[in-house]
Amino acid sequence: MHPTKSTRTQVAIIGAGPAGLFLSHLLHRQGIESVILESRSREEIEGTIRAGVLEQWVVDLMNGMGLGDRMMREGHFHSGITLRFDRQSHHIDMAELTGGKRVTVYAQHEVIRDLVSARLEDGGTILFGVSDVQFADLDGKAPRVQFRRGPDGPVDELRCDFIAGCDGFHGPSRQAIPAAARTEYQIVYPFGWLGILTEAPPSHPELIYANHERGFALLSTRSPEVQRLYIQVDPKDDIANWSDDRIWSELHRRLEDESGWTLKEGPIFQKGIIAMRSFVCDPMQHGRLFIAGDAAHIVPPTGAKGLNLAVADVLVLSRAMAAYYKSGTTEGLEGYSATCLRRIWKAERFSWYMTTMLHRNEKESPFEQRVHLAELDYLVHSRAAMTALAENYVGLPME
Ligand code: FAD
Ligand code: DHB
Repeated sequence: MHPTKSTRTQVAIIGAGPAGLFLSHLLHRQGIESVILESRSREEIEGTIRAGVLEQWVVDLMNGMGLGDRMMREGHFHSGITLRFDRQSHHIDMAELTGGKRVTVYAQHEVIRDLVSARLEDGGTILFGVSDVQFADLDGKAPRVQFRRGPDGPVDELRCDFIAGCDGFHGPSRQAIPAAARTEYQIVYPFGWLGILTEAPPSHPELIYANHERGFALLSTRSPEVQRLYIQVDPKDDIANWSDDRIWSELHRRLEDESGWTLKEGPIFQKGIIAMRSFVCDPMQHGRLFIAGDAAHIVPPTGAKGLNLAVADVLVLSRAMAAYYKSGTTEGLEGYSATCLRRIWKAERFSWYMTTMLHRNEKESPFEQRVHLAELDYLVHSRAAMTALAENYVGLPME
């Protein structure tokens, strides 16, 4: 590719997901300039339905950065969650168990909307709809990113000090770390989630995670008018096989308990199936390239950790870059991967634990399935076990 135009910035960020957008804001607050290159349009990234739960420290970070006004007005703040199994409900009071930390439900695309508009308002550069992103000179002091503006546009070049690969699981950044220089760890689960958005009133004041012999189900919310629900399905299943009636019938069967509680129905206006995996890439850096968020690791959604981990990575990265620009120290940059991976592996463990405990895995023996029920029974009757779950769910401390 021969660039027709060449510009310079301090940090080239690939991807305007939570990782890329938070990074750009955090760097801006340290006086460090960045450019975000995003392959999709603004409308697409602001309309993609994904995560819903924010850890307490992410809420505090957004408020501290002046980005939390709409979240504080429109988000939902729950003191705990409900675990349901054997048709019994058990409340886990996260706030009481963690000294006041809460469960915040505020959709990922709303976070994206808030971060995009604030970044553009304060003069930041986000180039949407770019294609053909390629890297050069990652090992030197002046790496470069080449890309096209639009699908067939002219080739541009961005010269920079660092590249932050925040381009999700399928982006090119992780692949730019030579295969021989990285180790990948992975579990692919034999189940997925079918997620819906429905125009219905809330059925319950907090999230319900249900273990049922027909498979896992989760009740979440988006607003007083819109609810978010998930059921465990075969990841290879076709959404066309799932009529609205069939979805509601499964949700009723898996979520209802002995108390007579009922699920409120409404029109379903969005539905889709996602596969589930656990994945870690080690290391998360190569020369002047640093990867963050889903580009470096994936968790199954059961622990609600993915978005939060992406923010944790870029907080570590922004601090390391700030130290470098302030005093030339490279210690933080060199330790980036090791620092992040300590938190990542704990989140991987927690997400795997929640997933295996709550889902029905037909490949497991009846013995293993009974062990998961015993684990749940132990959990809801042990303050120590509930505290361990609560500490992880609301987010481990961010030093
Ligand atoms: P992404 O959000 O994937 O952003 C990457 C960006 O890079 C995208 O905008 C993409 O278009 C762009 N990109 C890709 N390739 C290129 C390229 N070649 N050039 C330029 N740009 C590129 N997490 C939670 O914390 N809590 C939850 O409750 C939760 N629930 C979830 C529920 C579901 C159904 C799903 C699917 C995920 C859930 N997650 C949850 C996970 C969370 O959504 C992700 O972990 C999060 O989006 C990761 O952010 P990211 O910025 O690393 O990557
Ligand atoms: C939601 C998603 C999750 O993965 C989860 O564990 C809880 C809630 C949600 O989309 O609301």
